Amino acid sequence: MAASVALLLVLLVAVVAPPVAAELPRLEHPHKGDGSLTLLAVGDWGRRGAHNQSMVATQMGIAGEKMDIDFVVSTGDNFYNNGLTGVDDKAFEESFSNIYTAKSLQKPWYTVLGNHDYRGDALAQLSPVLRKVDSRWICMKSFVVSAEIADFFFVDTTPFVLKYWTNPENSTYDWRGVAPREIYIANVLKDLEDALKLSKATWKIVVGHHPIRSVSEHGDTQELLQLLLPILKAHGVDLYLNGHDHCLEHISSRDSPLQYLTSGGGSKAWRGIQTANADKVEFFYDGQGFMSLRLTTADACLAFHDVAGEVLHTWALAKPAERH
Ligand SMILES: *[C@@H]1O[C@H](CO)[C@@H](O)[C@H](O)[C@H]1NC(C)=O
Ligand SMILES: *[C@@H]1O[C@H](CO)[C@@H](O)[C@H](O)[C@H]1NC(C)=O
Repeated sequence: MAASVALLLVLLVAVVAPPVAAELPRLEHPHKGDGSLTLLAVGDWGRRGAHNQSMVATQMGIAGEKMDIDFVVSTGDNFYNNGLTGVDDKAFEESFSNIYTAKSLQKPWYTVLGNHDYRGDALAQLSPVLRKVDSRWICMKSFVVSAEIADFFFVDTTPFVLKYWTNPENSTYDWRGVAPREIYIANVLKDLEDALKLSKATWKIVVGHHPIRSVSEHGDTQELLQLLLPILKAHGVDLYLNGHDHCLEHISSRDSPLQYLTSGGGSKAWRGIQTANADKVEFFYDGQGFMSLRLTTADACLAFHDVAGEVLHTWALAKPAERH
């Protein structure tokens, strides 16, 4: 008991202390014996099963089984409408544990925070207490998951978006451990750049909640285009994966190998909006679903799936060994 209180205190101090640049927390996740790695990605989901969240979950279970997935990536907006109220908020079970029940989904869920998560007790989602409720839950602000053939760089994008600070739409954002914004962002970018420089993985995949490129309701995130994108291009990042827009989309960069992937169809969708984009739109679907990804050292293969399990779009890339 005393030990766990002490641990909690250490973690609280770590989280609320003034932000400083530091090495990103790093988790190792072994790939399969055959050298491959398979995963699903879903975002914008936590609605106690409503808005087809349960249907998406069912299909994720089926796809997860077929692919024998290693883990799941959540691109944020984990709990609507305002994140969790605390570590004892039943929404955690009602929207997560009791929804993604398939055997194949009993794997680590590497999770970032979305803007809606920041409207509640953001620190609750980061708390190890939740891991005792459901051991799959691995949520941090910015961190690296290293699977040898692929490194996944999770980036906390909500603090980048200026309007959440200046015009918070009547909501309170939980900026504990974040404010002041400028220092936080500079540290995230530096930590990310340091981690990218060290990466020897064949595939470099960056995950954030907000899109860099999107043709749906929210569109491109200007702050990320300006601040994050140059770093991704400079370090040969292959995929940028996000949620925030409640759709499935694939946009390819016109001047780099980077692919922009939105998997934000975990529940409420059908915004009825499609705009133009300066980069090349390969695929856009306004409804619910999720993304799957299979990686080997030689190739990457991704697919978008809808609520009925139909594969709507696939894309594959072979990588010559000498490219990195
Ligand atoms: C759920 O999915 C079905 C099948 O695609 C669709 O007809 C229905 O409109 C969806 N419901 C919601 C609330 O989005
Ligand atoms: C914010 O509050 C005002 C006044 O109560 C209300 O008219 C407006 O709809 C609210 N905006 C949002 C986004 O909830």
